[in-house]
Amino acid sequence: MTAPPLALLAELTHRCPLRCPYCSNPTALTRPGEELDTATWSRIFVEAADLGCLQIHLSGGEPTARRDILDLVRAASTAGLYTNLITSGVLLNGTRLDALAEAGLDHVQLSIQDAEPTSADRIGGYRGGHAKKLAFAHLVTEAGLPLTLNAVVHRQNLDRLPAMIDLALELGAGRLEVAHVQYYGWALANRDALMPTRAQLDAATATVEAARTTHRGRLVIDYVVPDYYATRPKSCMGGWGQRFLAVSPAGRILPCHAAESLPGFDFPDARTTTLRAAWEESEAFNRFRGTGWMPEPCQGCARAEQDWGGCRCQAFALTGDAAATDPACALSPHHALLALALEASDRAGEGFTYREPGRLPQPAPVLPLA
Ligand code: SF4
Ligand code: FES
Repeated sequence: MTAPPLALLAELTHRCPLRCPYCSNPTALTRPGEELDTATWSRIFVEAADLGCLQIHLSGGEPTARRDILDLVRAASTAGLYTNLITSGVLLNGTRLDALAEAGLDHVQLSIQDAEPTSADRIGGYRGGHAKKLAFAHLVTEAGLPLTLNAVVHRQNLDRLPAMIDLALELGAGRLEVAHVQYYGWALANRDALMPTRAQLDAATATVEAARTTHRGRLVIDYVVPDYYATRPKSCMGGWGQRFLAVSPAGRILPCHAAESLPGFDFPDARTTTLRAAWEESEAFNRFRGTGWMPEPCQGCARAEQDWGGCRCQAFALTGDAAATDPACALSPHHALLALALEASDRAGEGFTYREPGRLPQPAPVLPLA
């Protein structure tokens, strides 16, 4: 029997006032008129709880761009789910936050782009955004809600990681996620401008380790390392179809939030398929579940049930084959692609390609092996 998922990622909308160059949303976004309505989301939340999910991450885009966000939080809470709002914070004020708390919101996860305001606003493509975020963070802690700060780090902000840790402490966050950019979705188009240097990575890792010791008991620091310097991949999503499921704004039920980038899938539609049927029976969730699908060199590898062959979306983005071993693994025949990408980023400038209405990025830069 398939074990139940721990959490549902509900991507309520792709609308967002920010334009982060590492956005993990698909390159082609769902239009507002195509989004699921309140009643359908509410039914999905009940199905998630029945399936065994304990938590729901209300995400986007910017989830508070939904006019019915209060109803959605109330519905998720009433279903018995622990509700986490993943937000940029720029659309919220104290009154709205109080209403969200009253509706049953349990936790807030707030993104920051940098510790330095001018750089933060440039990276997010939203003038004045950083100041709004700080004001919102204070409102969250004043309301007594637990706060996690999420800092996506890369070449253009990593040197200020110590300041970001100080900021998390100053704002009263209980947890800080320091997440190196993962290169799929829009981030792949900006890979060269975002890739950290080896020296930056080593400094950041040392900073995190020291801060974990210094601030033990006050601030938990999660650290997501960059695949391009790794010799073994991360266990993406805890394994395909094993711990999480996501529902896209248009209602596609997905094993990971980026899975719509993969061709050749018929992902179940939440309008016509229950979460349980999608999780337990669908071909899309079963295709990469477990170890039976794995190619060499994963077959028989001692780490097969630890990293599950790495990330399917990254495997596709870099090799064109979602069933390939993640090139982040040094045993992958495609591992040299990462070194080529690192070399290319050494020569790159700092300019970003931002999302513009109707604009798609250049095709993913799959580099030839030498
Ligand atoms: Fe993981 Fe496959 Fe590499 Fe083994 S060969 S470490 S299972 S990605
Ligand atoms: Fe989709 Fe890793 S992001 S499997």
